[in-house]
Amino acid sequence: MSQDSTASSPLSAFILPNGQSVKNRIVKASMEEGMGDANQAPDQNLFNLYRAWSEGGVGAILTGNVMIDRLAMTRPGGVVLEKDTDLSPFKTWASHAQSGGSKVWMQINHPGRQVFANMKGKVLSPSSVALKMGKHSKLFGQPKAMTESDINDVIQRFVDTALQAEKAGFDGVQIHAAHGYLIAQFLSPLTNQRDDDWGGALENRARILLSVVQQIKQQVSADFTVAVKLNSADFQRGGFDLGEAKQVVKMLQQEGIDFVELSGGSYESPAMQGKTADGRTLEREAYFLKFAKEIAESTQLPVMTTGGIRRFATAEQVVNSGPELVGIASALAFAPDLVNKWQHDKAFVVENKTVTWKDKTLAGLATMALVTRQLRRLGKNKSPKPNDSPFVTLLLEQLRKAKLTKRYLKRNGLN
Ligand SMILES: Cc1cc2nc3c(=O)[nH]c(=O)nc-3n(C[C@H](O)[C@H](O)[C@H](O)COP(=O)(O)O)c2cc1C
Repeated sequence: MSQDSTASSPLSAFILPNGQSVKNRIVKASMEEGMGDANQAPDQNLFNLYRAWSEGGVGAILTGNVMIDRLAMTRPGGVVLEKDTDLSPFKTWASHAQSGGSKVWMQINHPGRQVFANMKGKVLSPSSVALKMGKHSKLFGQPKAMTESDINDVIQRFVDTALQAEKAGFDGVQIHAAHGYLIAQFLSPLTNQRDDDWGGALENRARILLSVVQQIKQQVSADFTVAVKLNSADFQRGGFDLGEAKQVVKMLQQEGIDFVELSGGSYESPAMQGKTADGRTLEREAYFLKFAKEIAESTQLPVMTTGGIRRFATAEQVVNSGPELVGIASALAFAPDLVNKWQHDKAFVVENKTVTWKDKTLAGLATMALVTRQLRRLGKNKSPKPNDSPFVTLLLEQLRKAKLTKRYLKRNGLN
């Protein structure tokens, strides 16, 4: 959907269908920080980090994914928001994230089968299909096929978390339906082999997503943003693909959401890091732009695309191609004030590293570790350090994860 002739600058304001206004079109995309405290809540480190982003000039901030169930975690150190969670640290978090005039939308997620085996807890999926990652497959738990009551429980949890986010002062929520997490597992025919109302035809595979959206929309205020992050494709043979993504976007438009963010891939096919499992090549920058452009042409919904955007010229290319919002993740870990910098110097380019080891799984983990290291530094009010060694950083990250896993298991009585 193209709004008007002034829509061509990433630095121009944008108004969402619900009337919410963002001061510019650059959105800090979700990055799970693994910085939750011992109570799985945000603390001063996250407050500092989000203040740095908001004061750094982005139009809006999507939080790292917040878990809807303390027993189903994408990683140790994650933040959890459930029906009875104390809202005071979440209120402080929201106010820091809004301190520089940005909107803040909480991304809410259930990992489904993408749970590390050593985390124990619940490993749920539409069908009991485990991740296939060669010699790394054992890193993940064996999923249990969900019952009808498991499905209803998950829907209710998404709704409870969204209502809590609104009470805490967030400007909206984004439902994570991408990257191979639970809702994406329902959407993909590879992981959803059910023959009931939740599997088979696309309307059935999309039912859980649409139920979550409908129930949230029924209960939140009209000006509270409800968005969805969706894969433009899974980039796996036989997986959820562009044609289906287009149809799901149509269904979401009918439900009256405010925007759809397009990404791609999963642990099995890390397209969001620019690499695919089915051999399809992505753009070197703005990986999903071709797909986002095609989807934007087929919908009235505002579209955001995320992946590989680091230069102002690329952000400009995005908003001139159809999508209205530009999602940036890693670059904002290395330069949280990137938008302020672009206000004065459009040629400014962020120095950030991707790791190109032969073992793609380890390279992906090392790239993520380098980014999360910067987030922790920003949380301590220190500046980013782009030249850290990927090997040492990955090692330190693994040690930290082991420590946090112990803390998590103990706190939740799983050890
Ligand atoms: C450390 C890290 C954590 C991430 N966590 C999330 C997350 O919680 N939710 C999500 O939707 N995407 C997550 N992503 C993916 C990003 O939102 C984004 O789609 C991807 O990094 C590509 O964008 P970029 O090239 O600007 O980094 C994460 C990426 C990184 C590097």
